[in-house]
Amino acid sequence: MQGLIVVTWERYLSERFGKRFLEVYRRTIQSHHVALASRVYTDEQWLVGVEAASKLTKLSPDTLLREYGRYFLLNGLTGHFCAYLLSQVRSGRALLLAMRDAHAQMRRASPQIIPPIFRYESISSNPNELLLIYDSPRHLCSLLWGAIEGAAERYGEAVRIVEVACMKHGAPECRLEVQFSPGKGQPAETPAQAHQRLARLRLAHLVLLSLPEQEGITLAELAERLRQRQVETEQLRPRLLLEALEHLQFAGLVRSNASQERGGLFHRRYWRAPTSGK
Ligand code: HEM
Repeated sequence: MQGLIVVTWERYLSERFGKRFLEVYRRTIQSHHVALASRVYTDEQWLVGVEAASKLTKLSPDTLLREYGRYFLLNGLTGHFCAYLLSQVRSGRALLLAMRDAHAQMRRASPQIIPPIFRYESISSNPNELLLIYDSPRHLCSLLWGAIEGAAERYGEAVRIVEVACMKHGAPECRLEVQFSPGKGQPAETPAQAHQRLARLRLAHLVLLSLPEQEGITLAELAERLRQRQVETEQLRPRLLLEALEHLQFAGLVRSNASQERGGLFHRRYWRAPTSGK
């Protein structure tokens, strides 16, 4: 499991049950290190944690996973790391549809990450109604359910979900009928917020276009390529470039040699991840 899942899971536990609970939980699962969003954990490590939290809270794993799925889509850390994906859509339905390709891309970028791949079928002439087909050996449909609720809530919408088939009850795949409807709406963005969101998105697009497909380049080389594309000097600050690279890495669009490279941030090399194939 990608570290972001483990980190946000622990945040969820702490916010829902308190800091003291998190300490007890960590002792129970013998976790002596703070979880890191940049690491990948085994499924077993995380699933042992879900079982332990269920025993400690006396809530079923399904209840916890559903609550966590909703939390995953609404908390600030996911908002930060997944900003490249989240800032391109403006509705729960659009996010759900975008996640098919986005999860597939994350798989391509790192073989250790195995996000679920969804399929969709339309079930009526109403575009806000769709059938989502979920197939994952992890059988995390409760998390999926919560994530759909979180996606709707993120954009101030309501959603009705009916699970018509479930792998946990012997079906070959889970099938969820999902119906989004307008709710109170998303809090309106101020012009300054919209400007900042679009500026970040534009910079991330330009960073992606400037990266090679092989033989990565350093931060300084990237800044030089962006300068040649007439990107303003203000936008070329290392902090902004590193943020754009990080967001693109979480979307599975950029790779780096961070795990083999020992020379520090400024020697690290970045390149574009393949966007086709398995
Ligand atoms: C409507 C929105 C979303 C839904 C319904 C959804 C659903 C899920 C589900 C059900 C899983 C559990 C893994 C499994 O079933 O095998 C998962 C994993 C994951 N999701 Fe999403 N997700 C959504 C949005 C996002 C966003 C915005 C990101 C941001 C980058 C993201 C990144 C991930 C990652 C990194 C994993 C872990 C994969 C791994 O380590 O193997 N998801 N997602």
